[in-house]
Amino acid sequence: MFILDQIPSVANQFMAEMRDKAIQKDRMRFRSNLTRLGEILAYEISKSLSFQSRTVVTQLGQAKIKVPNEELVIISVLRASLPFYQGFLNFFDHAESGFIGAFREENENSSGDEDIHIRLSYLACPSIENKTVILADPMLATGKSFIKSIQKLQAHGSPKFIHIAAAFAAPEGIDHIKANLDIPFEFWLGALDEGLNDLSYIVPGLGDAGDLAFGTK
Ligand code: URA
Repeated sequence: MFILDQIPSVANQFMAEMRDKAIQKDRMRFRSNLTRLGEILAYEISKSLSFQSRTVVTQLGQAKIKVPNEELVIISVLRASLPFYQGFLNFFDHAESGFIGAFREENENSSGDEDIHIRLSYLACPSIENKTVILADPMLATGKSFIKSIQKLQAHGSPKFIHIAAAFAAPEGIDHIKANLDIPFEFWLGALDEGLNDLSYIVPGLGDAGDLAFGTK
């Protein structure tokens, strides 16, 4: 598991601005910080991908270079993921993209507690058969939307590896994914927070990432 905020870097400033009640109201800044986190995590993921050697002709000779050698599909979990996903797309020029809509339905269960159900809606995805998938969703709370999304995406093939990328995560979501995913995977996180509150929001987290990015409910 890779956790970005364990390493002192400028990324900590981006995450602090996203969490800060006084600063996060600036929607444009919130979106651009999400994109910057996506770019940094894309760079970290890129170090784990396979590369092949090539030679390019320069003005003065020949240079041996390494180019990515992986069929990559980046999945954006709508809607909060859009600015985060853009960060991955900025770095992986030739990746294909898939989109899946996931939203929470809050029901009361028989004991009177709030129960979170994830409903999936829109899906557009290329084949992911034997490809490397990056599933990008900025908030990994219960982990249910990740698992449900992956189950639905499997109608488009079996990926060889899934990189699960989130800006903020809760231990409960990490455990849920570990218990329910039988495809090889790795976590790439901005920060791993304390846990979930009664409404399954990440604490201390930042609030609702989709609302903060787009100002809609
Ligand atoms: N989704 C969010 O936007 N925030 C959370 O804390 C959890 C899920």
